[in-house]
Amino acid sequence: MDPSTGPSRDTWGSKVAFILAAAGSAIGLGNIWGFPTVAGQNGGAAFLLIYLGAVALIGAPVMLAELIVGRRTQRNPVGAFRALAPGKAWVIVGGLGVLTGIVILSFYSVIAGWTLAYIYKTLIGTFREGTDTAAIFSDLAGGAVPAISWHLLFMALTIWVVLGGVRDGIERWTKVLMPLLFVLLAALAVRAVTLSGADAGLTFYLKPDFSKVTGTVILSAIGQAFFSLSLGMGAMITYGSYVSKRDDLVSSAGWVTFADTTIAILAGLIIFPTLFHAGLEPGSGGPGMVFVVLTSLLSSIPPAPYGGVIFGTGFFMLLGIAALTSSVSLLEVVTSWAVDEHGMSRRKAAICFGGVAFVLGIPSALANGAVSWLTSLPGIGMDFLSFTFMLFGQYSLVIGALLISLFVGWVWGVRAAGEEVRENDGRFPLGRTWSFLIRFVAPSAIVAILVKMVADLI
Ligand code: TRP
Repeated sequence: MDPSTGPSRDTWGSKVAFILAAAGSAIGLGNIWGFPTVAGQNGGAAFLLIYLGAVALIGAPVMLAELIVGRRTQRNPVGAFRALAPGKAWVIVGGLGVLTGIVILSFYSVIAGWTLAYIYKTLIGTFREGTDTAAIFSDLAGGAVPAISWHLLFMALTIWVVLGGVRDGIERWTKVLMPLLFVLLAALAVRAVTLSGADAGLTFYLKPDFSKVTGTVILSAIGQAFFSLSLGMGAMITYGSYVSKRDDLVSSAGWVTFADTTIAILAGLIIFPTLFHAGLEPGSGGPGMVFVVLTSLLSSIPPAPYGGVIFGTGFFMLLGIAALTSSVSLLEVVTSWAVDEHGMSRRKAAICFGGVAFVLGIPSALANGAVSWLTSLPGIGMDFLSFTFMLFGQYSLVIGALLISLFVGWVWGVRAAGEEVRENDGRFPLGRTWSFLIRFVAPSAIVAILVKMVADLI
């Protein structure tokens, strides 16, 4: 079927609106919660360097590849692969993406639910100088009722935004709030690096110790790059499908990557100095670490208690909204699939799959103290949320991105992709570099690291 004859689709209002929406998808808990958590577990500065390399050499090219496939086909991931490789097994990659999106949404909403709870907690002045922030976190995340209720509330918000449709639903939020988040983070970073004991945190974060680099560290860095940039499951295919043919994809991909990476680096500059200031171990504390550390930083902002209340509430509201613009992109992928491929109404699809993700998220909500076997899975030792994150938030995305780069680099081909890029003004800046990265560098780096991981296992 000629992809251009499909039903008419929503498009973004402008190029800027698209960049903001894609940046809204990319910037989220992955930057502020995920990046410091994973960097802390993987040795700090060496991880940061490998992460930056992975973003530039693998993440950015894969982002462009996904956007190209999306704009070309104007389809969801399943429809996109079907349109470009009719009758071939490649649609499975799209299917895997849709599935991965639902599972990521399931635990993403649990963590985002904690964020909503923290808006309320900071507003009522829960955190003061000397408050036991770890105890407050474990009461929230370790209690079945609060954890599930906030998860439910967040999922309901996600569904509500997706129901509004791409343009009105998503665009509006990102315009003002993303820049505001950046300013607030920069202010918090200044505060954090001037704390006593901050030097040790900065050393950990900025002075690489390469003896700590293992296959797992590299895989985690690549996985984190994909997660943070919303790659490997077709979210950017879906967002690219709403881009107008007049807009320039290369600079869009560049801006989104740049904004996302800047926010992650800033988050590290906040978390690590604060962590060392408080005498905590990086890498300890699991999924709650960032919440515990941040609230102790926020509550110390003078004048007490107002500084803490104002900055704390402001911070968690912005983080909640950043999470919402990300979760919306996850639900949007399944929704567009159900609408395009199965003729469901947008409303029914969003409610139905949002509901599925809510149910799938319940074990993750119970995995932080509420139910002990979920908190430490028998034989695995990890909590259910971290384990699901590893399987779907890292491995599945890495494999998805590998298949997408092979598809675009070798099957559909960089020549056809280049034609799509040139649709607007006939130019493809960095086209040769991109071809080389997507055909050779990205696939071989990913395969090498997967082989090494498997070899280490046996
Ligand atoms: N990138 C988002 C974050 O950093 C999460 C996210 C949204 C995502 N959509 C995605 C991750 C698609 C992987 C794939 O918080």
